[in-house]
Amino acid sequence: MTKIGLFYGSTSGTTEELAEKIQRAIGADVCDLYNMEDDFDDAEDLLKYDYLILGCSTWGAGEVQNSWREPLFDMEVEKPDFSGKTIAIFGPGDCEGHSKHFVGALGILHDQFKALGAKVVGAVSAADYSFEKSTSIRDGKFVGLPLDEVNESDKTDRRIADWLELLKADFPALTA
Ligand SMILES: Cc1cc2nc3c(=O)[nH]c(=O)nc-3n(C[C@H](O)[C@H](O)[C@H](O)COP(=O)(O)O)c2cc1C
Repeated sequence: MTKIGLFYGSTSGTTEELAEKIQRAIGADVCDLYNMEDDFDDAEDLLKYDYLILGCSTWGAGEVQNSWREPLFDMEVEKPDFSGKTIAIFGPGDCEGHSKHFVGALGILHDQFKALGAKVVGAVSAADYSFEKSTSIRDGKFVGLPLDEVNESDKTDRRIADWLELLKADFPALTA
């Protein structure tokens, strides 16, 4: 199925708004939206899709948003097979207030789904961001799309548009 499953976790509603924005940009007819808190039972929900976009804000000090914690733990134990799946990750953070742990959740999702066999795409140059430290950078790029609604909301629409353009290479639904 070339349809995209967009799964997000959000505590105060920011990731939810961004997920809805991304779904509108892609088209609701080709992108199904799931809130990890209410709509997720187990990895089978994700495995229905060959193309996934995962949204997760960062909390604590570089940790994943609460509703992703148990699913990630369960998947670490059960090791569902994500080979053949294409995954892109986005998430909001705070590059000033949490500059030493900027968007740490992206790296956690990236490492886990890659270890489960997924192809993770949509890496973004770190040059467009200012922050002190992030564990979500591999080979000079963020492993997904960082967004920052606290300090740089004016950049969000352009960042999303550029990212979706980049994802066209791997997500057939974006070029249909
Ligand atoms: C207690 C607390 C801890 C946070 N920790 C981080 C962090 O470690 N790294 C980061 O980039 N942002 C951090 N943030 C910022 C949130 O990720 C940001 O506000 C995000 O937009 C929240 O999205 P949500 O409402 O979808 O959960 C933190 C915010 C709070 C209130």
